Amino acid sequence: MLQLAVDGQTWLDSAATAQKPRAMLEALQQWYASGVANVHRAQHRPGERATSAFEQARGTIARWLNAASASHIVLTKGTTESINLLAHALAGQFQPGDEILVGAHEHHANLLPWQQLARRQNLALRILPLDTTGALDLEKGLDMLGPRSRLLAVSPLSNVLGRRHDLAPLLQRARELDVLSVVDGAQYAVHQRPDLQQLDADFFACSAHKLYGPDGIGLLYAHPRRHALLQPWQWGGEMIEHCDYHSASARPLPLGLEAGTPNIAGTIAFAATLDWLDKLDSNAIRQHEAALHRLLIDGLHARDMQLVGQPDTALACFNAPGVHSADLAMLLGEQGVAVRAGQHCAMPLLHSLRLGGAVRVSLGLYNDAEDLQRFFEALDAALEILA
Ligand SMILES: Cc1ncc(COP(=O)(O)O)c(C=O)c1O
Repeated sequence: MLQLAVDGQTWLDSAATAQKPRAMLEALQQWYASGVANVHRAQHRPGERATSAFEQARGTIARWLNAASASHIVLTKGTTESINLLAHALAGQFQPGDEILVGAHEHHANLLPWQQLARRQNLALRILPLDTTGALDLEKGLDMLGPRSRLLAVSPLSNVLGRRHDLAPLLQRARELDVLSVVDGAQYAVHQRPDLQQLDADFFACSAHKLYGPDGIGLLYAHPRRHALLQPWQWGGEMIEHCDYHSASARPLPLGLEAGTPNIAGTIAFAATLDWLDKLDSNAIRQHEAALHRLLIDGLHARDMQLVGQPDTALACFNAPGVHSADLAMLLGEQGVAVRAGQHCAMPLLHSLRLGGAVRVSLGLYNDAEDLQRFFEALDAALEILA
């Protein structure tokens, strides 16, 4: 990795964004330093080289996710853009009164595009509830899927609850009822390599920057059974098959949903990051992260911190009794430990749990027990000051 102490601080905010491997930086450097060209438009040799590198990168991304074909991967700015794209591209699939179901634990990125679509088109937005442990209540969720349901949008790993959900039963019911399914994999893809053919959702979104890759690049996977439903959401260069002054038709996926010059460097560097990840021992990483997570949870319990839900993966949100989360995060920051405080882009979830905010500690594959030791020393010192 390039940097583990960021501005002299121990990085415990990887759920927001991850530090980068050298392989990613080298790919960016190599792309820009060897002469650039745009993709999918020029016949000259640099243009052919650029198009080939870009499409090879799409292929690497598809293979990493076990998508059946690179043509199922639409490149976007990230998870937020992927879900907004969908909420526009699928707009023609809804009748007034149709239901959209979203998890109570969703990040704003997987709530607000659907909320706004529902408001524009008079749809019913229904919220899949959490159980008493703060986990998604899968049984109630299954009961809520019915004949009026048209779309299910849900995340297998929340950026607040840190609790992994097995979405298989919900996705299966959605398939049986021909309900469109959208999986927000922004956190999940970092801690469990996705197998999109096995998951068998209609759509899946994630962001490179959380996966140790560059900013401003991400993807939307679209299952081929749904390609025909997707209408272009942006129009412009290189996405059209034909146009005249008064009409236009779009190319098939993925290019038909990628208007304008894409993030070529980011795509290539993202693929290089996935190649780097591919060479690491994923079992060893999983065990390492699980052991660190246990240390984190045990340490928080030992200090009687109030955990938000029952986190089992990669992160924990908590509060110290009687202490504002922002005050605690500031005191931790002053002692060289970078954690995040607030509502974590999940305001409705925090409100439903009657919380104004929470401190979040989140782990990446580069963290170690010493990082947590520094965190706990800083936490103890902060709690003493606040007492
Ligand atoms: C679960 C989840 N979904 C979506 C997003 C949005 O990701 P991005 O900001 O990369 O679009 C995040 C970011 O924190 C997230 O944690």
